[in-house]
Amino acid sequence: MKQVLLTGDRPTGKLHLGHYVGSIRNRVALQDRFECYLIIADLHTLTTRPQKKEILEMRGHITDVALDWLACGIDPEKSTIYLQSAVPEIYEMNLLFEMLVSLNRLIGLPSLKEMARNAHIPEESIPFGLIGYPVLQTADILMPRAHVVPVGKDNEAHVELARDIARRFNQYYGEVFPLPEAMLSDTPTLMGTDGKGKMSKSVGNTIFLSDDPKTVEKKVRMMYTDPNRIHADVPGTVEGNPVFQFHDEFNPNKEEIEELKKRYREGKVSDVEVKSRLTEELNKFLDPIRERRKEFEGKKGLIEKIIYDGTLKMREVAQETVKEMHGAMGIGGSWKKISRLARDYCKR
Ligand code: TRP
Repeated sequence: MKQVLLTGDRPTGKLHLGHYVGSIRNRVALQDRFECYLIIADLHTLTTRPQKKEILEMRGHITDVALDWLACGIDPEKSTIYLQSAVPEIYEMNLLFEMLVSLNRLIGLPSLKEMARNAHIPEESIPFGLIGYPVLQTADILMPRAHVVPVGKDNEAHVELARDIARRFNQYYGEVFPLPEAMLSDTPTLMGTDGKGKMSKSVGNTIFLSDDPKTVEKKVRMMYTDPNRIHADVPGTVEGNPVFQFHDEFNPNKEEIEELKKRYREGKVSDVEVKSRLTEELNKFLDPIRERRKEFEGKKGLIEKIIYDGTLKMREVAQETVKEMHGAMGIGGSWKKISRLARDYCKR
């Protein structure tokens, strides 16, 4: 039996090269080794964007995210793609898990303040639901009884929490859950095109997986590079230069990269040349992704069908898990007894 892997994204918009390097590439590679579940975590998005307008905006993003995954090579035959809000058992499990974690533990997580800051929520108005974000994530992880959870550093503590909750559940009620483990990818975070920080949609320094060749060319042309190089003969700096980090990630010709770096440091190559080579390689990398995207887009309803089938499959798994959970906790027993006695009464 393969081990179960679960991971996913919040549907906040189109995915970019940073997502690819940080997670999607890894997910594609792991599909054969694990039984994979990919969650589109729309309920998590509500923790910072609960308004109706925001919920309606998210609809398009749900299919965008799935399309980006599939275009990158996620195979729906191997990975179950599903929509979190369409699995009622997740809400239920979330509540039961809330009893197994202290408020102190949740408030102490650095990710909470980080998420609040990013969403411009002042500390004193942090919603209950945002504090509970990692508990909901625990429900995601434990629903298919995942063993392995590929996440970024920022989510490592959440998987740790899922582990603690699973352990406590098993202690209180009996062995139901495996103890999940975070799987961190070893790639450094991809810089944004501005060279300032990591690639991020809110900063506006992204290259999207869905950008066309012209847009890629333009973004690379505008990309931050060594600002001291007013001329091609000024020795340049490679370290921390996004143009070279992108070469390292997307140009398969390592010899060429070394040669470009050497010439750059010596002031013997222009930024224009280094960038135009990068544009070519990025487009070469994106072309097959564009191809697959077109294929999926060409078949109206196919993306929806994939999410639909995946969600139905997940619901079956979920019902099984929750049934076992109820059994272990003895929580379904009262209702069963009431139902039985009520029916007996009617027969009288
Ligand atoms: N918290 C993840 C993020 O940062 C999204 C997510 C929700 C997730 N549920 C998950 C990741 C379960 C891994 C496993 O966007």
